[in-house]
Amino acid sequence: MWFENKVVVVTGASAGIGAETAILFAQQSAKVVLVGRNEDALISVAKKCGEAKGIIPLIVKAELINDNDVKNIVTKTIEKFVHIDVLVNNAGVGFKGGIRDSVDLYDRVIATNVRAVYLLTSLATPYLVQSKGNVVNVSSIAAFKPIKDIEFLQYCMSKAALDQFTRCVALELGREGVRVNSVSPGCT
Ligand SMILES: NC(=O)c1ccc[n+]([C@@H]2O[C@H](COP(=O)([O-])OP(=O)(O)OC[C@H]3O[C@@H](n4cnc5c(N)ncnc54)[C@H](OP(=O)(O)O)[C@@H]3O)[C@@H](O)[C@H]2O)c1
Repeated sequence: MWFENKVVVVTGASAGIGAETAILFAQQSAKVVLVGRNEDALISVAKKCGEAKGIIPLIVKAELINDNDVKNIVTKTIEKFVHIDVLVNNAGVGFKGGIRDSVDLYDRVIATNVRAVYLLTSLATPYLVQSKGNVVNVSSIAAFKPIKDIEFLQYCMSKAALDQFTRCVALELGREGVRVNSVSPGCT
């Protein structure tokens, strides 16, 4: 599988699954856009991506709960690489919490795991339609199986919402040649 001249945006690319995903895409010759907050970590991932095929990734420092930062991801990507072929909505947060916890915790988790995904996908849609591209949402097994022994209510809810978002947008954009899927890891 080759991604030559494909532009791949990966959120949460500074750590964990997102960092490894970005490096794998770079190894497949993709032009990668690395999104995250920790600039040092992003630079370190960019170095590894660059070493793969010599293509220097674009780093976009963004706080995904800030709408202007989210808009900036699309603006900077188009300025630098002209199109978007793949959007990997990977960034996510999970905090221990149950029904006795404040609604602020709910707001915080939903803002990152659902709202930011909605906004970024929406802003990327004209470009994804143009490229007949792909969206990959990183969900979790927690979307359909509550986590035993530890309360993760807000996280489980957010991933269930993300899965339904995936289904609805897959139907909506599938007609225009854009594939929308999710992956649901267990403990990684
Ligand atoms: N690891 C697992 O066991 C597991 C299992 C199932 C599903 N998942 C899902 O897989 C995805 C990645 O998980 P992970 O464990 O690899 O994550 P991680 O190592 O904790 O890294 C999270 C990434 O998301 C970014 N991020 C979080 N909130 C952000 C925000 N508000 N604005 C911008 N960036 C933000 C972080 O950026 P900075 O560090 O730069 O701030 C970081 O790059 C998540 O959606 C998670 O729910 C993980």
